[in-house]
Amino acid sequence: MAPQDRLVFLNGNYLPLHEAKISVLDRGFLFGDGVYEVIPVYGGRPFRLEEHLRRLHQSLAGIRMVSPLTDTEWAEIFARLVDGFHDQYLYLQVTRGAAPKRDHAIPAEVEPTVFVMAAPIAPLPPKGIHAVTLEDIRWRWCHIKAITLLANVLLRQEAADHGAAEAILVRDGWVTEGAASNVFIVRQGQLATPPKSNELLPGITRDLVLELAEQHDLPAEERNIRAKELKEADEIWVTSSTREVLPVVRLDDAPVGDGEPGPLWRRMQEIYQAYKQRLRPPASP
Ligand code: PDD
Repeated sequence: MAPQDRLVFLNGNYLPLHEAKISVLDRGFLFGDGVYEVIPVYGGRPFRLEEHLRRLHQSLAGIRMVSPLTDTEWAEIFARLVDGFHDQYLYLQVTRGAAPKRDHAIPAEVEPTVFVMAAPIAPLPPKGIHAVTLEDIRWRWCHIKAITLLANVLLRQEAADHGAAEAILVRDGWVTEGAASNVFIVRQGQLATPPKSNELLPGITRDLVLELAEQHDLPAEERNIRAKELKEADEIWVTSSTREVLPVVRLDDAPVGDGEPGPLWRRMQEIYQAYKQRLRPPASP
């Protein structure tokens, strides 16, 4: 099926993507006034669904909204849109909706716009990625998964201009996260990632990596990381729902470690893939 013919969910209806339309007065369009989630689906099952829905509720609360749907209703929509057993992701977006006039302040009565689609996950680069460090120019409420992503777009493009797949962001000399991922470093066998704060998204993949590290006795800590530690790191990883745990093998103009995915990454990759595999229904490929 052509991508534009795939079924999507918009405001209570299921329809082909090319028929899904919203008002030009939608506050998501006018102000970036909304939040989103990206949920991977393996073997037909949404991955860490409870955690993603919990973060959705937190993001909505952060912009003074409540979920227009119950968790059961969300799960029903996801089940209807998931297309077979191949790896894919669900994208959902809730905006404040279309108000009759353009005014920054939140209108009293407005119906939220709810959009959900499923799409294939792009294959991951097998040998790691290049990244660049850039100044974190984003706003201070990065814990909210807001659709207002212009800074992330520009930062990711600046990385792409340098031939890199991700920008690692630095604020006041401290690492925050990637333009669309969380960041881990390995130094002397010890895994570290910055603690949760309003300066980074509480990544679901990040939490899972910490959880798996603990279960498998890999030493890991949440602590602030100085930008200069990136240069001294034996390994750097970026994590996200669509890119899992990816090793950064080159940072700015220098190799990370020996320029190959490191031993701790290889171990985590085994553990992570085994965890994913256990969640697939037995008959799925
Ligand atoms: N982004 N930090 C930022 C700024 C992100 O945009 C993302 C994910 C993450 C990782 O979070 P998680 O592990 O929950 O996916 C961290 C998604 C995938 C996106 O915008 O497409």
